[in-house]
Amino acid sequence: MVVVLVILATIILSITIVVALAILAAIILSVAIKIYFKVTTRWCPSATCLVGKVAIVTGANTGIGYGIALDFAKRGAKVILACRNLNRAEEARLKIINESGNANVVVTLLDLSSFESVDNFVNTVTECEERLDILVNNAAIIEFDGCRLSKDGYVLIRQVNYFSVFLLTLGLTGLMERNESSRIVNLSSMMAKFVCNFKVNELYQFSGTLNDYSLTKLCINLFTIELANRLKQTGISVYSVNPGSVDTDILTGRYTPGPLIIMVKFLMRFCLKTVEEGAQTPIYCAVTKGIEMYSGEHFEECRKVDRYRTVKVPELPKKLWDVTEDILRLQLENVKIKF
Ligand SMILES: NC(=O)c1ccc[n+]([C@@H]2O[C@H](COP(=O)([O-])OP(=O)(O)OC[C@H]3O[C@@H](n4cnc5c(N)ncnc54)[C@H](OP(=O)(O)O)[C@@H]3O)[C@@H](O)[C@H]2O)c1
Repeated sequence: MVVVLVILATIILSITIVVALAILAAIILSVAIKIYFKVTTRWCPSATCLVGKVAIVTGANTGIGYGIALDFAKRGAKVILACRNLNRAEEARLKIINESGNANVVVTLLDLSSFESVDNFVNTVTECEERLDILVNNAAIIEFDGCRLSKDGYVLIRQVNYFSVFLLTLGLTGLMERNESSRIVNLSSMMAKFVCNFKVNELYQFSGTLNDYSLTKLCINLFTIELANRLKQTGISVYSVNPGSVDTDILTGRYTPGPLIIMVKFLMRFCLKTVEEGAQTPIYCAVTKGIEMYSGEHFEECRKVDRYRTVKVPELPKKLWDVTEDILRLQLENVKIKF
């Protein structure tokens, strides 16, 4: 009997020690990652004033988009929050006005899962605004399970993260061209680097895996390169940006599969970049003077980084552009493309 009790006590003690060590290791790892981000995160040093300028930020009601919109408002810009949910957007608008003291913040409906909504948004902005200085294509989704289709019949994540960004941007370049200089900033991700052997014809195929997120972000990088080529004769410059790993809903919230939510949220909250930190590189590309010669390039931590292997393939950006135009030919009939 005594022997059994001793064995039981030993087992319980061992389990307790292992669990305690695992928790300790997780805490030490979280603190180490947090320190790493604190040390390596670079802050946009530019004090550029945006009074008199107009900026659009898509998906500005939360996450990195909110951080970017708040910064633009603090710099005095008129900020258009382009969001799909008007209630959430209105809440964000009031918070931004409150925090920045700039009342010139408006909400305009934009649902990137609908080409009709993109069309309406472009029409509203071009009718109501006399200028557009900054467009930040920030909104995106991740799909972990299965493959939803949009009401237009496309793989939802591809439409939201890439096709609609293509249409929206092309639809707004006419307005942006009126200024001497304007900026487009496209939010990408380090995940783009993990797409191997990308064939542009993959875009025609039906997919629906987590790989689609990486694929859409690679498309964003390639789109940025080709768009910059086509905008060379204009005052518009365009950049793709990896914001780093940021504590937002996309990583730690609504897209995380159920059973993992609590653990992932707990760990991530303590080790990732804050929204303000994650917004720094997009802000840098939008407001820093004198970086026009880097149009088409990719930025991380407020500096240009070397192109990685996939996007170095010289013909790929043009090929992707052609395939995208082919896929979107019906939608593009309404868009006046001058280049
Ligand atoms: N967080 C990171 O670690 C990380 C890392 C690399 C890249 N990024 C990129 O950074 C950008 C911002 O991400 P985040 O982390 O801030 O994400 P987030 O917190 O999930 O915010 C995404 C925003 O996009 C909006 N959105 C989603 N679907 C939309 C649609 N159909 N039409 C219009 N808006 C839509 C969301 O609106 P609702 O609130 O209405 O859903 C929300 O405002 C994304 O492009 C993402 O890929 C993020």
